[in-house]
Amino acid sequence: MTSIVTVKVILGTTREGRFGDKPAHWILGEAAKLPGVEAGLLDLRDFPLPFFDRPRSPGREGGVYPHPVVTRWAEQVAKADAFIVVSPEYNHGYPAVLKNAFDHIYPEWARKPIGFVSYGNAGGARAVEQLRLVAVELQMWPIQRALHLPVEVYFAAMKEPIPPNPEVFEPLHTQHGVDHVVRFFDDLLWATRALKAARASG
Ligand SMILES: Cc1cc2nc3c(=O)[nH]c(=O)nc-3n(C[C@H](O)[C@H](O)[C@H](O)COP(=O)(O)O)c2cc1C
Repeated sequence: MTSIVTVKVILGTTREGRFGDKPAHWILGEAAKLPGVEAGLLDLRDFPLPFFDRPRSPGREGGVYPHPVVTRWAEQVAKADAFIVVSPEYNHGYPAVLKNAFDHIYPEWARKPIGFVSYGNAGGARAVEQLRLVAVELQMWPIQRALHLPVEVYFAAMKEPIPPNPEVFEPLHTQHGVDHVVRFFDDLLWATRALKAARASG
């Protein structure tokens, strides 16, 4: 029997009027449908982290953090077997609030896969390229496939409630004859199960 894996969707923006809720709740719904997957949302608005200013690198904190919000954030990240980060592009990069959330902790990320859902003029591709580099430094395993929202999906989803109608995201299932959503989860869950077993075996 396959054991349950925990996949956390990280909603990477916090600004008033953000779009990020739409893709985050959509991909959360898609993950929740999958057998053997326990899906949850980590909304950075629920973790008002201070701007990182610790005297030591979090890799040297031994998993003990003095700030209560950081402790809560670390606990949630530690519970996850995999992550889906939902990120826009801000000035050809990713949001500072997301980098701050990555930087605050360290061992909790290690040896876990990470996939990306992104949006922006170029589907947020430039933000994802940078996020992959950050993930590697955190000893994470970014998967090759990412879900870049086409601009027409972005504008259609903008009008949707939360959670949005999943039909709005249908083009991601049918682009160039490929169901990118199915393949994204195939890749993510393969890595999630492999790495979970490897972590358990030490
Ligand atoms: C500070 C800022 C910088 C942006 N820079 C870019 C950019 O470089 N490329 C791009 O495609 N979109 C850019 N945008 C547009 C965002 O991708 C778009 O507003 C998106 O909805 C932001 O995500 P959010 O609504 O979840 O905050 C920028 C938006 C903001 C607020």
